[in-house]
Amino acid sequence: MAKNTASFICQNCGAAYGRWAGKCEACGEWNSIADEGAADRALPGRSARKGRLFELQPLTGETHDAPRLPSGMAELDRVTGGGFVRGSVLLLGGDPGIGKSTLLIQAAARLARGGHRVAYISGEEAVAQVRLRAERLGLGSAPVELAAETSVEDIVATLGQGKTPRLIIIDSIQTMWTDAVESAPGTVTQVRGAAQALIRFAKRSGAAVILVGHVTKDGQIAGPRVVEHMVDAVLSFEGEGSHQFRILRAVKNRFGPTDEIGVFEMSGLGLREVYNPSELFLSERDLGSPGTVVFAGIEGSRPLLVEIQALVAPTSLGTPRRSVVGWDGSRLSMVLAVLEAHCGVKLGGHDVYLNVAGGLRINEPAADLAAAAALVSSLAGAALPADAVYFGEISLSGAVRPVAQSATRMKEAAKLGFARAFAPDSARNEGASDTGLAFSTVNSLADLVAGIAASSNRTRVRLAPA
Ligand code: TYD
Ligand code: MG
Repeated sequence: MAKNTASFICQNCGAAYGRWAGKCEACGEWNSIADEGAADRALPGRSARKGRLFELQPLTGETHDAPRLPSGMAELDRVTGGGFVRGSVLLLGGDPGIGKSTLLIQAAARLARGGHRVAYISGEEAVAQVRLRAERLGLGSAPVELAAETSVEDIVATLGQGKTPRLIIIDSIQTMWTDAVESAPGTVTQVRGAAQALIRFAKRSGAAVILVGHVTKDGQIAGPRVVEHMVDAVLSFEGEGSHQFRILRAVKNRFGPTDEIGVFEMSGLGLREVYNPSELFLSERDLGSPGTVVFAGIEGSRPLLVEIQALVAPTSLGTPRRSVVGWDGSRLSMVLAVLEAHCGVKLGGHDVYLNVAGGLRINEPAADLAAAAALVSSLAGAALPADAVYFGEISLSGAVRPVAQSATRMKEAAKLGFARAFAPDSARNEGASDTGLAFSTVNSLADLVAGIAASSNRTRVRLAPA
């Protein structure tokens, strides 16, 4: 029988090899390559099974809304898309100590108080520790069912008895192990095997299962990336070390949007929901200092105003530094290149630092204009108007391009007391007039630079070429 050439498959990334190797060249994982052809070769004379016939369905027909279980925490429900879905599995990832266990015990307590059966299985902490935390949060009396267990078979057998729990929390998937797999607990294969068993249980019983997952230094959910593919939704809980803000973000969601964020604040009494994040992110502004600007952004369906800070200073190094926190480094390089090429702003001899205040991470290209304004303002030493917001995408030609949902951005700015918007002309037609904001058209980056240079009466650096 002809030997199948590429039957050794990396169990972490799926790369295929003709022979076994200790390390996967594609993803760098050790000991992850398994011989998937072995099963076929073991049964050389296996006859082809006759397929069972099944009925094909038309696309039209009766549909049922995913039966959801809202947690009652609005910020959490916003990210899941309206609640936990029956029979679905959700993976919650985040750095250690970010507050995953806190968030889940709070959600569990709420649901349990609402009369649902909720089980919290901790593989990391003893029952007493979980209890202690719940008591400290004032949730001691909630009828959550607790256990400190790590064997998936035991967990499935126990929870399969009696009325199925509506919600099962597994904290964390890396501590679980299953008899079905021979490798040691914590290995990629174990984590995957345990996740598979729990997913099967969720589908079979109709319980919603939440798996907590650790995140590695480079931001990936540790262990197999495959777990991310196996589950229905992946949420990530993020925050910057020294800040109290925590942001819950959907990375993948089969039953809802992936662009919504939930904002929380870690307090002495656990996680507090933040209903108006703009106020929070703008609460500590340095009004009127050069290099700070307010960006009118959109996160999912919700407008979000946030401060962007830049520092541009002469460098003492051979290669100037470019450092970004909360934004995309390659977008910064692009904005700097456009400033040099089309506006004559020379930054080759300057270090550039850009920071999004409050520990938020922005992904929108609409922040280009705000970032450019902050950079030019810092370079010129000229403060921007404190009552203005900025938004617009910059193209490589130096033009400022329209962005989506301009009216929503401006409405939020007006609500928070801003008086002026700097944006591309298209936004004016989108209802700038009914928000009451004064509108300043910025159709090219050169306009913006000229405007800032003109307003600065102590320009340290010549911004535009003679
Ligand atoms: P935890 O939920 O245990 O994090 P994770 O499960 O993601 O590892 O949260 C631990 C951190 O949260 C810890 O540093 C203390 C802080 N914390 C508070 O500030 N207030 C609180 O009420 C609680 C319960 C925790
Ligand atoms: Mg924990």
